[in-house]
Amino acid sequence: MSRSEDLVSYEPATGAELWRGPVGDADAAVSAARAASPSWSAAPLEARLEVIARFRDLVRANAAPFAELIARETGKPRWDATGEVNSVAAKVDISIEAHAARTGTRTTDIAAGRQAVRHKPHGVLAILGPYNFPAHLPNGHIVPALIAGNTLVFKPSEQTPATAAYMADLWAQTGLPQGVLNIVQGAAPQGRALASHPDIDGLLFTGSATTGFALARAFADRPHKILALEMGGNNPLVVWDAEDIEAAAAIAVQSAYMSSGQRCTCARRLIVHEAAAGPLIEAIAALIDRLIVAEPFATPAPFMGPVIDDRAAQQLEAAHAAMVAAGGRPIRALTRLPQGEAFVSPGLIDTTGLTLPDEEHFGPLLQIIRVPDWDHAIQAANVTRFGLAAALIGGDEPLYQRFWTSIRAGIVNWNRPTSGAASNAPFGGVGHSGNHRPAAYYAADYCAYPVASVEAGRPDAAIPQGLRA
Ligand code: NAD
Ligand code: SIN
Repeated sequence: MSRSEDLVSYEPATGAELWRGPVGDADAAVSAARAASPSWSAAPLEARLEVIARFRDLVRANAAPFAELIARETGKPRWDATGEVNSVAAKVDISIEAHAARTGTRTTDIAAGRQAVRHKPHGVLAILGPYNFPAHLPNGHIVPALIAGNTLVFKPSEQTPATAAYMADLWAQTGLPQGVLNIVQGAAPQGRALASHPDIDGLLFTGSATTGFALARAFADRPHKILALEMGGNNPLVVWDAEDIEAAAAIAVQSAYMSSGQRCTCARRLIVHEAAAGPLIEAIAALIDRLIVAEPFATPAPFMGPVIDDRAAQQLEAAHAAMVAAGGRPIRALTRLPQGEAFVSPGLIDTTGLTLPDEEHFGPLLQIIRVPDWDHAIQAANVTRFGLAAALIGGDEPLYQRFWTSIRAGIVNWNRPTSGAASNAPFGGVGHSGNHRPAAYYAADYCAYPVASVEAGRPDAAIPQGLRA
């Protein structure tokens, strides 16, 4: 293959080339995974767990260079990338516990012998990963799928191949048998080749709703194959009866701008009572003016870095311009910054009263929507085809219970940011955010299928009724 066909990863903060390598071959990878499947699935659970625990230890031992690479490849601050690496390591013990709790073996003595529920791996699973958490999110599928006994083909985002290659190298050092985890580098064509491959037994996806819908269509005539979709959101944050405006503003800023707004759980729409909007908006704007936006290793440490690339920055600028054209009133305009072509400033825009397309703008852009009463707040929060994350800031326990009951989302928080989802809880959304196959603690569920058995040591039966004498 000529070098011109190589996949290349560039650092968003500097534009420098970070990684270059050939695109992968989905066919060869699926064959390798199929060949490795019988022995990996038949290996005792303890043997699989030993290898997986070695991966955890290697991640911890290499945490600093691993985080540095993620920071370079995504542009996120080093502290943010370090958090991601910690989540990768922590996922192992959480997944072992979840495997036992959700898909372990349960046997009950019955009169005829024993009743058992056990689980089997699906076989060969494909995994498609996004760029925003290039290690943590694919790892959230990889680890539980390996524990369950599946063999895997992982196609990372074309924007983060270096992180995937680094993870693959750590896995190789664990002694994981050849063919159990296969990496296919590439973009949408390689993703499509993998998703449509006849010899996969399922697909675990984290990415945009557009891609997720394309995958659901591709799986329409394969209902027997597992398809887990973790997609985006247009997440609401409702601020109501908040006494501590500074704290509310800090939670809003964390929710909207953490990781440059490139978390699927980031708040995109802040809904507030019209009488309380002024001081809150002022407090958020004052915080925005203090946020450090800089390259990942800058001193002092930045709050956020660039978005993933120039194209993403252009799309965000266009989304902001479209809101302004529709009548939105910028409080802090989202603009390109001089630090580099992928740098944008955090945007805050009042879109009260406008009807805007229900799209996820994957970056630091927060809309303010002022409403006259609680019913309008809930109505505004739920006016979305998505349903990933939502949060209430302020109020009391009864108000939170009303919020929890009426809001449609897979993550509902109170006085905490919409983002920062816990790995030891289920993670997923309703509506166009997912297909009811939550990841994180519940990933075990989609990595194995249950087998129910009634078992007796020897045949011991007679026909009790209906026989002629
Ligand atoms: P994306 O959908 O563009 O890409 C995800 C993966 O799918 C990549 O590996 C890509 O190469 C592949 N792909 C793209 N088109 C494909 C096609 N037609 N067929 C097969 N594969 C294809 O997503 P992204 O831009 O990398 O990531 C950002 C998106 O991911 C945001 O929408 C964000 O909300 C979402 N996300 C969701 C979660 C979640 O758990 N709900 C978590 C993180 C990110
Ligand atoms: C994400 O998966 O994009 C976000 C995880 C989180 O911080 O909630």
